[in-house]
Amino acid sequence: MNIILTGDRPTGQLHLGHYVGSLKKRVEMQADENNQMNIMIADVQALTDNAKNPEKVSKNVLEVALDYLAVGLDPKRSTLFIQSQIPQLAELMMYYMNLVTVARVKRNPTVKSEIEQKKFGESVPTGFFVYPISQAADITAFKANLVPVGEDQKPMLEQTQEIVHTFNSTYGEVLVEPKAVLPEKGMGRLPGIDGNGKMSKSLNNGIYLADDADTIKKKVMSMYTDPNHIHVEDPGQVEGNMVFTYLDVFGKDKAYIEELKEHYRRGGLGDVKIKRYLIDVLEAELAPIRARRLEFAKDPQAVMEMLRQGSLQAEKVAAATLDDVKKAMGIQYF
Ligand code: TRP
Repeated sequence: MNIILTGDRPTGQLHLGHYVGSLKKRVEMQADENNQMNIMIADVQALTDNAKNPEKVSKNVLEVALDYLAVGLDPKRSTLFIQSQIPQLAELMMYYMNLVTVARVKRNPTVKSEIEQKKFGESVPTGFFVYPISQAADITAFKANLVPVGEDQKPMLEQTQEIVHTFNSTYGEVLVEPKAVLPEKGMGRLPGIDGNGKMSKSLNNGIYLADDADTIKKKVMSMYTDPNHIHVEDPGQVEGNMVFTYLDVFGKDKAYIEELKEHYRRGGLGDVKIKRYLIDVLEAELAPIRARRLEFAKDPQAVMEMLRQGSLQAEKVAAATLDDVKKAMGIQYF
């Protein structure tokens, strides 16, 4: 039996990068009877760098839930819940903070690079700085042994493992050491349609699960290809050409894609043609997801009720762990 915990910050709708990097894998894992899945909408973590803009976080809770349901995460098989509704997570974090030095938190490479990216300078919110400890609470509250995440989350898992070791050797064997489940090769990070390293809302280079067919068409037509491939008869470059990058990830007919690549390299194959093909490939994958999303979006109250039920369920599990933790620490007085 595996216990799985993972989640997303609700700061926007989910895009194809999330889809190939993690959502697809979750749906696969969900199909296995041996896996007990917990999927968390990490609004508390999202607030660590959006404190002044809480609506951005709260309004995206529903959007992320719709994306989950649209790709096939099923509340009957997976517990879908909202982080802020589980107060035990904050309490656990309080105890874990005493087991981690400030110097250790400062060393976290993901937090370091996020601080740079977000241009916090000297004004890093304390909550943001310590979010890896909050994440350790998320994971250990469920006694999760597997955590499917992207490469950038490896330091969070290492931090969690250290906390588990320290806790267990100090107070007794209570917590479970989790392992990261990383994306398969080539599925790690989908670049944006502009060819930038990362698909992201802030770079405005994403294709979203909620995008309609027309939007997808326009986005694909504007994709970064080979800037030196000016005339159809010119030889073109396949490497770094987003149309081929996406075809490699989403295309099923690998032999045909190889043929297209050869032709493109040789010259004589226009961008519009390969873009049209990519539109068909993406539509085949995304049309059913979009249809399901629209269906669920008709009844937002039902979606919120599903999250409420999931949160109640999650809270029970977290409360039991907190109980074990407090007993082990000798602070369960009554
Ligand atoms: N840090 C994760 C992200 O930015 C979200 C997250 C919060 C998470 N808590 C978690 C992921 C626990 C895995 C396990 O995407």
